[in-house]
Amino acid sequence: MEKRELIYEGKGKKLFKTDDENRLIAVFKDDLTAFNAEKRGNEDGKGALNCKISNQLFRLLEENGIQTHLIKTLNDTEQLIKKVNIIPIEVVVRNIATGSLSKRLGIKDGTVLPFTLVEFYYKDDSLGDPLINDEHCLLLDLVKSESDLEELKRLGREINSILKSFFAERELKLVDFKVEFGVDKDGNILLSDEISPDSCRFWDATTNEKLDKDRFRQGLGNVKVAYEEVLKRILTHK
Ligand code: TMP
Ligand code: ASP
Repeated sequence: MEKRELIYEGKGKKLFKTDDENRLIAVFKDDLTAFNAEKRGNEDGKGALNCKISNQLFRLLEENGIQTHLIKTLNDTEQLIKKVNIIPIEVVVRNIATGSLSKRLGIKDGTVLPFTLVEFYYKDDSLGDPLINDEHCLLLDLVKSESDLEELKRLGREINSILKSFFAERELKLVDFKVEFGVDKDGNILLSDEISPDSCRFWDATTNEKLDKDRFRQGLGNVKVAYEEVLKRILTHK
């Protein structure tokens, strides 16, 4: 597969065309950003860790019936993926209150939620990715119909239930995460983007130590060590 011109550069990845119009190559970057890119950093090897972690988690989800854009991982930092039209909605799924949920609604940090909460954010950097409801999604034409929104919620909950038990077996609490979906040429909704410590919160099951991008956001240090620990636990066979 030949890598051709760069078509998109995001905060965590670059996307390149290939010689097949339905396939792209995603390259995971070492850059780290937070708070709408107000805070920036770089961690040598972070891209390779996220590429491996996301590869493992997408494979696990595929084995459990979730369709994804991933075709195969090509090397340390590159994946061959199906070309999709990204739905500009960030689907955030939460098991434990922290981050913007605690800040916005005053729910004490660390409170275990009585049910899995699914939220939609409008993927628009210039607006700061605002929280939106179902009607906003329809108003902005982000999806075709209400049934697509129900499907995004169903997929978010299903991904959560698969990942939550996988991580529980590896002594990690899956606190919350963000996923993105895309529509392929045949109209299928595929899990896209990545699932990594950049887009999830993981707390150690016993100590509640943060093992995700909050180490960078909050200046706690040892960012790469934390990501390595997450990968190590993912690769633990149970
Ligand atoms: P939040 O508490 O800041 O809203 O974040 C919720 C989850 O979504 C957390 O796991 C981090 C992830 N997330 C992203 O991956 N990208 C983003 O732009 C934001 C705001 C959150
Ligand atoms: N908002 C994202 C985060 O904090 C990334 C960014 O803002 O640049 O995870």
